[in-house]
Amino acid sequence: MKQVKTRDDSITLFNEQYQEHYHSHTIGAIEEAFVKFAEPCKIKDGMKILDVCFGLGYNTLAAISKSLQLEIVGLENDLKILEKTATIEVPERFRKDYEIIRNAAKTLKYNEDGLKIRILVGDARQKIKEAGNGFDAVFLDPFSPKKCPELWTKEFFDEIFRRMNKGAILATYSCATIVRKNLADAGFTVMDGPVFGRKSPATIGIK
Ligand SMILES: C[S@@+](CC[C@H](N)C(=O)[O-])C[C@H]1O[C@@H](n2cnc3c(N)ncnc32)[C@H](O)[C@@H]1O
Repeated sequence: MKQVKTRDDSITLFNEQYQEHYHSHTIGAIEEAFVKFAEPCKIKDGMKILDVCFGLGYNTLAAISKSLQLEIVGLENDLKILEKTATIEVPERFRKDYEIIRNAAKTLKYNEDGLKIRILVGDARQKIKEAGNGFDAVFLDPFSPKKCPELWTKEFFDEIFRRMNKGAILATYSCATIVRKNLADAGFTVMDGPVFGRKSPATIGIK
């Protein structure tokens, strides 16, 4: 997989099958995880987070940079991308926390000092049924709606919605009309997320 260095010196990969990068390569890949996912979800001690499409774990990395007292469930169908976490270089300031991501991705779990991570491997539409409920935040980060429409449907959003607490926040980078419509149809209150650079806003859904 081709590696691309992004604006904050973090690395993203290019997926040949989807013909897409795993992260924005015009802004920083890890920067994006903070701005579009962890910050809009207001991550703090004691939260339970669903990380849909765990990938290289950058969104979970941003979350654990905010708090080490979290319970996180990741959904990912590709073991190869989880294996990549072992060798990918991250900027110095994230190295310590990224060791946690590496450990979690290797054994599919991590449980130390109040931080609990579990990664469920398989199709997110099936694996979400084993994720439990009571989520305070959801990171929704599939490939684009054009390339991966199955993870942007009302049916999948229904599954997410019913596992969230009232007032919980879902964050996603997409502002596509169909995404916002399906979120609203699943019951979310849909709002603009952060605007980053010259791009369109991200999207937030509140239960
Ligand atoms: C945009 S990338 C996610 C990047 C990731 N959040 C990160 O921080 O590195 C999308 C991810 O969705 C995964 N994926 C694609 N289809 C899936 C499915 N049906 N179920 C679960 N994961 C899927 C891909 O393997 C890929 O890792």
